[in-house]
Amino acid sequence: MAFPNSYPSLNPVDIYREHIATSLAPIFGVEPSAVFSKLQWTQTQDKGDLLLPVPALQIKGKKPQQLAAEAGEKFPESDLVEKPVVAGTFLQFFFKPEPLIKTVLDSILKNKKGYGTNSNLGLRDPSDPSKGRKKIIVEFSSPNIAKPFHAGHLRSTIIGGFIAKLYAAIGWDVWKMNYLGDWGKQYGLLANGYKKYGSEEELTRDPINHLFDVYVKINKDSAVQDAPIKELKEKIKLNKEKEESVIELEKELAGLIEESEDEKARKYFKSMEDGDRDALALWEKFRDLSISKYKQTYARLNIEFDEYAGESKVAPEAIATVSKELAETGVSEESEGAVIVDFEKHGAKKLGKAIFQRKDGTPLYLTRDIAEIRARYDKYHFDKMIYVVAAQQDLHLAQFFKVTELSGHSEIAEKCQHINFGMVRGMSTRKGTVKFLDDILRDVADKMHDVMRKNETKYEQIEHPEQVADTLGITAVMVQDMSGKRINGYDFNLEAMTSFEGDTGPYLQYAHARLSSIERKSDVDLTKLLSAKYSLLKEQHAIDLVRLLAQWPDVVQNTVKTLEPATVLTYLFKMTHALSSSYDILKVIGSEPELKEARMALYEAARQVLHNGMSLLGLNPVER
Ligand code: ARG
Repeated sequence: MAFPNSYPSLNPVDIYREHIATSLAPIFGVEPSAVFSKLQWTQTQDKGDLLLPVPALQIKGKKPQQLAAEAGEKFPESDLVEKPVVAGTFLQFFFKPEPLIKTVLDSILKNKKGYGTNSNLGLRDPSDPSKGRKKIIVEFSSPNIAKPFHAGHLRSTIIGGFIAKLYAAIGWDVWKMNYLGDWGKQYGLLANGYKKYGSEEELTRDPINHLFDVYVKINKDSAVQDAPIKELKEKIKLNKEKEESVIELEKELAGLIEESEDEKARKYFKSMEDGDRDALALWEKFRDLSISKYKQTYARLNIEFDEYAGESKVAPEAIATVSKELAETGVSEESEGAVIVDFEKHGAKKLGKAIFQRKDGTPLYLTRDIAEIRARYDKYHFDKMIYVVAAQQDLHLAQFFKVTELSGHSEIAEKCQHINFGMVRGMSTRKGTVKFLDDILRDVADKMHDVMRKNETKYEQIEHPEQVADTLGITAVMVQDMSGKRINGYDFNLEAMTSFEGDTGPYLQYAHARLSSIERKSDVDLTKLLSAKYSLLKEQHAIDLVRLLAQWPDVVQNTVKTLEPATVLTYLFKMTHALSSSYDILKVIGSEPELKEARMALYEAARQVLHNGMSLLGLNPVER
C-alpha cells in the first residue's frame, strides 16, 4: 500500500491527499508517502482545503521558499485541485468544486451514519482482519453509593460516554465500566443507619434518595457523638500534662467509643470484609437497587455500561497478591506499623508518599486501584484503558500507575491513560444544591420547557413538549459541559445553556430540527437524492458548505488524538453557522424541481453530518 493510512472510500479528503502527494513527489524528488503525511488541515477556508508546509519535507539544498515557488509553478494541470497558491513556504490547495461536490455528497448519502467512522482503525492488523480488534476499557462515571452524584461524576459520565462512542466509531472493541464507590467503613455506617431509620418500602421506591437520607441521618448521629469524645480526649491530654490520674476518664472514653456509631460502623464493615453473609446480603441489596436506578438515569444520556465493577468487587486475594509483590520488589516498606510506598525513593519525588495498608491491616482506596488494574488486565488483556476521573485525583492516578510500573508491570501501566477534567462551579438546582443526576436533568428540563413556551406558535406544533424539553435540557447540560477544553472548569449557568442563541445545545438541536423541517416541507423524494443534478450547486455558499462537510472524517480522526469533545463541537458550530447563512441564498421551497432536489441533497448531507456529530457526542437529535 502506497499510503498506509489512506481510506479514500471512507474519507473523501484522502482522495485529494493521494492526488496531491502523487503530483508533488516527483517535483520535490521525494516519496509520495512523505508528502501525504505532511499535508495539513487549514484553519479557515480562505487558506485552502489542504496545506503543505514545505519546510516539513526537510529537503536539503534549496531554500523552502524557493522550493515552494517552483512547486507552485510546476504543479501539473489537475481535474481535482486548482493550481496551488504559494504563500511564503506554504502551498495552499483549493479543491475544484464540481468533483468535490460529487464525491462528498455521494459519500455522505451512501455511508449515512457511517460517514466519518472508520472501523479499519481498530483492527489489530489491518492486513489481516482475522486477528481481531483492539480492546479498550473506558472506566467512567463511578459514583459513590449513598452519596451525592456530584458535578465530577456528571463530567466523567459525559466525557466518558463520548470517549466510548469515539473508539467504537473507529472500530475498537469497547468495554464500558462503572467503578462504583461501594466499599469502606462508611458503608458499615449506612447499614447500621438503615436498621435505625430505613424503610423497605422507601428503599424499593427510591433507593438512591432513601439511602442518601439514611446516610445523612446516621452521619448526624455520629457527628453528635463525636463532640463529647473529642472533649474527653482533650481533657485526658490536659490531665496527663498535669500528671493527674486519667484512669476513670479513659474508662469513660472507651465506653463512649464502644457505643459510638463510628465504632459500630467499623465493626459492621469488618464483618463485611470477613464475608459475613447477612451483612453482605444487605449490602448487595443496596447495591443492586442503586444500580437499577442508575441505569434508568444513564439511559437518558444514551449510556449503557457493560459492567458495574466497584471497590467492593476487588478480591481480597488480589490485594494479598500485589501486597506480597510490592513487598518483595521493595516498592513498599513498613512505616510505623503501616505499609507505605515512598515514591521519592523510586525516583518519583513529585508523587510523595502514599499509604498502601493501614496500621490495622485494612486496605485503602489506592490499594484497591492497584489490585484492580492488574485484575482487569488479567481478565481482559486490553490494548488500552482510560480512566475518566476529575483532575482533583491526578495524584491518586499517577500514584497507582507508577506503582504498577515499579512492581514490574510497565506493559500494563503504558496502556493506561488518565483523562482528567476541571471542576464545575455552582451546580445547584432552583430548589437548592444538587444531589443527584436526576435532579439536575429534571431542573434543566423544567427551565427548557419555560424557554420553549415563550414561542407560542412553535410550541403548539410540538406533539410531546415534555419529552422534547427533556431531550433539549439534556443536550443543554451536555453541550455546556463539552464546549471548552476538558481541563478548564466552568460555571454551571442555567440561563446560558438553555438559550437558543449562541453556541448552545438548544441551538444545535434547532439546526437539526430546521433541516428536518425543510425535508418535510420540500416534498422531494429523499431516496432519489443520489441522482440529483449536483452541478446546479454553483453558489459559493453551497461550495463552502460542501468543503466543510468534507472535513468531518478528518475531524473524527483528530478527535481521537485530542480526546476533547470540544474538537467535535467546534466543528459542528462552524458547520451550523455556515448553514444558517445559506438558507436565504439556497432556497428549497419555491425553486425549480431539479434545483430543489440538488439543494435538498446538500441539506440532507448536512443534516446527516450534524446527526453523526451529535450522536458521537451522545446527543439525541430532535426532528421538531
Ligand atoms: N468513586 C470515585 C469518586 O467518586 C471515583 C473513582 C475513580 N476511579 C478509580 N479507578 N479510582 O471519587
